[in-house]
This record gives sequence, structure tokens and C-alpha cells, in this order.
Amino acid sequence: MTDEPLLLRALRLAPTPRPPIWLMRQAGRYMAEYRAVRERVSFLELCRRPRLCAQVMADAVGRLDVDAAIIFSDILPILIPLGFDLDYLPGDGPVIRNPLRSGDDPARIPAAVDSDRMSFVFETVAETRRVIPREKAVIGFAGAPFTLASYAVEGGSSRLFTRTKTLMRTAPELWSLFMDRLADAVAESLSGQIASGADAVQIFDSWAGALAPDEYRMFVAPHTERLLARLKGKAPVIYFCAGNPALLPEAARLSADCLGIDWRISIQEACRVVGPKFAVQGNLDPTVLLTDKKTIRAEAARILDAVGRRPGFIFNLGHGVLKETPVENAVELVRAVKEFAVSAS
Ligand code: CP3
Repeated sequence: MTDEPLLLRALRLAPTPRPPIWLMRQAGRYMAEYRAVRERVSFLELCRRPRLCAQVMADAVGRLDVDAAIIFSDILPILIPLGFDLDYLPGDGPVIRNPLRSGDDPARIPAAVDSDRMSFVFETVAETRRVIPREKAVIGFAGAPFTLASYAVEGGSSRLFTRTKTLMRTAPELWSLFMDRLADAVAESLSGQIASGADAVQIFDSWAGALAPDEYRMFVAPHTERLLARLKGKAPVIYFCAGNPALLPEAARLSADCLGIDWRISIQEACRVVGPKFAVQGNLDPTVLLTDKKTIRAEAARILDAVGRRPGFIFNLGHGVLKETPVENAVELVRAVKEFAVSAS
């Protein structure tokens, strides 16, 4: 199949003429088109309007000419049908007004989430697939159980995850139940996204790096694996476990197809640790996009020289595009990766 998107070929470790590239958080506040939309609608309202979400993503994909469109959505709205009162405050980011606390009755966590309450996400996938060219992959996504639990327990963003780690250690039964319910809700969402046309899905474990490997293995890995097991055979899964390269050997025991790599480890070393069974995605430091074209080209070339020919390498940043990023620098990165790869072959 020659028209198979590059990203999908890379995800099954097949050879590609050049590595595919897309950028985490490729649509967002660094783009004027996005800021213009946000003057008219709140963020949550935007997430609930599939046609507008598809348009925001199509604008970004058109501007950058990346190989994949991750749907425009967010990891946190899934907490709403789980009984959490979520809001996004200008400047402060997400807030949850009724966080989960160690002494809470486990009965407050619903046994299952009605998938009708996620239908706007499924419609966003279908709408995105409709407007994005066939040769580009559509990526669905969700938060990983640990990262979602951290927001639900802390009540918002956190630096040290004090309450989350305390709940995990002092109320392990409540923790385990909650993590299973999150895994099931996320499996339901991602399965629905795949059924609606997502070619692949990414699971964001943005804050797992707060944990030590032993803690990850004990309190998190079984629940991440529960989720991955439910997606087996449906579509390729990228697991992005960020923040602590010492967790990579743990991630490499799970049944994802591709592992996301942040910038805290060299890509060569990451490939060595995860072995040949996984596709790998990463790992340019997003702050490189705050420099200049020459530096961006040199840093991209460094990564491509090291692993550009490895089967299953997907070029990406090591975390999301920063809001201070000049759009033309992101455009330059995509151009550089495509050119460099062609001239090297
Ligand atoms: O990649 C994309 O372009 C698709 C869109 C996308 C958003 N959120 C839109 C968004 C994706 C993939 C996410 C994932 C997400 N959301 C993560 C995992 C990725 C990561 O960066 O680690 C996390 C941790 C969240 C939670 C979240 N959502 C936070 C902490 C915030 C506020 C701070 C911030 O980064 O803007 C949001 C809001 C949010 N999600 C915005 C966007 C475009 C900004 C909303 C606005 O003010 O307009």
C-alpha cells in the first residue's frame, strides 16, 4: 500500500523514504489563527465543537505541512463524566473544584462512563479525518491514568505531586480502584476514537516522571497495561511517558507500539534502552524552537544523523510546542527534517 501514511508505516517498523514528522501541541496559543478562534469561544466550548476543532487542527497542519494531525481536544474533559467539576481559568490553567481525597468514599467514582458523554470527541475525530488529506495520519489521544489521576487529586497542575503520591501510598485500595476506572474510561474513549477514524492513538503520561521506577512499577504500570491490553489489535498506540528517562525500561515492558522520548536523554541512548521492538518518537527540546533557523537546522540534523534511518523513527519534539514559539520556526523545523532526510538518501 503506497498511499499508507508515513506515520503508520513507521509505527509498524516498515521502511520509510524519510522519517515522518508531527509536533505535540502543534495547534494552540502560539498560532494567531487559534488565538482568533479563542477570542470567540471558551476552551471547553471549543473542545465540544467538532467542526471548529477540525478547522483549528486543519489550519495548523496546513501551515506546518506535518505528516499527521493529532485531533484538537484535551486530556482533561474525560474527568467530567467521572464526576469532576473541571474548568480552565485564564492564566491559571485547569482547575478541578472537587478533587479526590484519601478519605473519600470509593462510591463517588462511577463504575463506568457513558460513552455518549464523549461523543463530541468521536465527532471531532470523524470531522478531522474528513478535512485532512488521506496521506496524513489522524491521531486520537487521551491522558494516561497516572497523569489524569494527578489532576483529579491535586485539583489542577502541580509541581511536586505531593497529594497524589500521598494518596497512592496511604490509600492504595482507593488509588488502585481509581486508576482502573480511569484506564477503563480512557480505553472507552480511545476505542471510540479509533472506531470514528483515528489511524493511531497517543497516550500522554506527561507527569509520570515525578515517580521513581519502583513506584511506577508498583502503582502505575499495571493500570497503564490494563489500558494498553484493551486497545490491542485496534490501532497502533504511542505511549509518551515524559519527565524521567529512568522510567524507559519500565515503559519498554508494556505493550505499546511506539514510545515517546523527551529531551532529557539522547535519542541514541533511548533507542538502545527500548530495543528494536518499539517505534520511537521524539526528541527535540521544544526550547530549540525559540532560537534561530541555523540552530534549529543543526539540532534537527543531529537527531537525524543519529537515528533518522532507524526503522520506526518518528521525528517530534520532546514535549509540546511552547506558547512563545514563533510559528515560522516550527515551519522551518518541518522543512529541515524533510529536506535533510531527502538529501541524506
Ligand atoms: O497537540 C495538539 O495540538 C492538540 C491539542 C492538545 C491540547 N491539549 C489543547 C490545549 C493536546 C494534545 C493536549 C494534551 C494535554 N492537555 C496534555 C498532555 C500534553 C502535554 O503537554 O503534556 C496535558 C497535560 C493537558 C492539560 C492541559 N490543558 C493544561 C495543563 C492546560 C493549560 C496550560 C496549557 O498548556 O495551555 C490545558 C489547556 C489547553 N489544552 C490549551 C490547548 C490549546 C490552551 C487553552 C487556551 O488557553 O486556549
